[in-house]
Amino acid sequence: MKRLANKRILLGITGSIAAYKAGEIIRRLREANADVRVVMTQGATEFVTPLTFQALSGNPVHQHLLDNDAEAAMGHIELARWADVILVAPASADFISRLCLGRANDLLGALCLASHVPLALAPAMNQQMWKDPATQTNVQTLRSRGVLLFGPDSGEQACGEVGEGRLMQPHALIEALADVFATGSLTGQTVLITAGPTQEPLDPVRYLSNHSSGKMGYALATAALEAGAEVILISGPVDNSVLASLSHAIKTVNVTTAEQMLEQAQAFAHKADILIAAAAVADYRPVLAQTEKIKKSAESMMLQLQRNPDILATLKRQSPWLFSVGFAAETENLEQHARQKLKDKGVEMIAANWVGHAATETGGTFGSDNNALKLFWPGGELELGVSSKIRLARELVALIASQYDNAVQSGRLNNEQRNVKNVVQLRSNGSDNNN
Ligand code: CTP
Repeated sequence: MKRLANKRILLGITGSIAAYKAGEIIRRLREANADVRVVMTQGATEFVTPLTFQALSGNPVHQHLLDNDAEAAMGHIELARWADVILVAPASADFISRLCLGRANDLLGALCLASHVPLALAPAMNQQMWKDPATQTNVQTLRSRGVLLFGPDSGEQACGEVGEGRLMQPHALIEALADVFATGSLTGQTVLITAGPTQEPLDPVRYLSNHSSGKMGYALATAALEAGAEVILISGPVDNSVLASLSHAIKTVNVTTAEQMLEQAQAFAHKADILIAAAAVADYRPVLAQTEKIKKSAESMMLQLQRNPDILATLKRQSPWLFSVGFAAETENLEQHARQKLKDKGVEMIAANWVGHAATETGGTFGSDNNALKLFWPGGELELGVSSKIRLARELVALIASQYDNAVQSGRLNNEQRNVKNVVQLRSNGSDNNN
């Protein structure tokens, strides 16, 4: 259940005899390395005490809309923003009806209204209540609004009746929840991503580099994997904590310098359909990397630098079939610079963000978990407000997937050259085999 690892699950528990089964759901979510926060309605607390779920989830249980303590720790709007998905299990007939009306008269109802993340309901109620036209109409309305319905199952009920209305089995619920993160929008595509900084050696102990943490590139790799793509990540040196966030399903090639990054990216370009250049490549490298440590002598010294290759522009030129997305990290004139890069590098999209002193409001300081992006493409733009890097990555990947489809369908990407290149590659592999 890797898709649930590090996901933030807001579990809503409502008044149903099946509320006790939420304990099993929480246990399984935690086994899948998900982060779980529980919100209980008043009705739910009649069946199970909040303390049980606090112990199981490892976090305080949220119950009241207007609770000074809870609001100080994590207010209801923060909680709504925190979640990657909301699962209400069990969802009672009363809760379903309130949700349908858009009521915000308790914490869970307010959270569902205040959040824009996927919302899934696992109904549990008496079979007659489930069959009732009122419940069925409510369920249809919610479905038409994009709410996901998990179950209910059929079988013997706690009330002794038999029929549809049992809470879906926890293991099946967890699988259904994991599928929420597998959008499939990039199934069958290969995405090549550059990430992290590059380091350009001055001598065996020193280098030129920048503050990039690699977090955005790694989040994009995760989001592309979730969307069903095969992902190849060419990464400059990043912290172990960033490395640890990565699924083993992502092929990672570690490099140090810009030249190595270009070489490795070129080696995989023929396999790729989409390129996302998130690396903060050092624009210059020392003309000469000394083989011995540079000793101090004079009061000042000059470093002679030479331009590094532009990896993104080079790849796009050499492999025009790649739907290519670049980043633009700017301290001023964001839009103007981003549009210029779109043109100069000949790419399909530029994701621009503020850095340095200009980034205090967007949280886009180096190493931060948050950012905000402004996307530019020929004929369009879109602003993605301040959010966690993984959420931004998911939104960006969704947009890339739909624009990639449009580009392929309108024949804008030059696939002929890719086919020629693949034939040449196959031939050279064949001749290697013959030797
Ligand atoms: N990029 C690259 N190779 C380089 C420099 C940049 O692939 N040598 C890519 C980055 O990964 C990013 C985009 O180009 O996707 C923009 O990088 P940025 O450094 O912001 O722009 P530059 O083109 O280097 O221009 P400047 O430094 O003058 O802003």
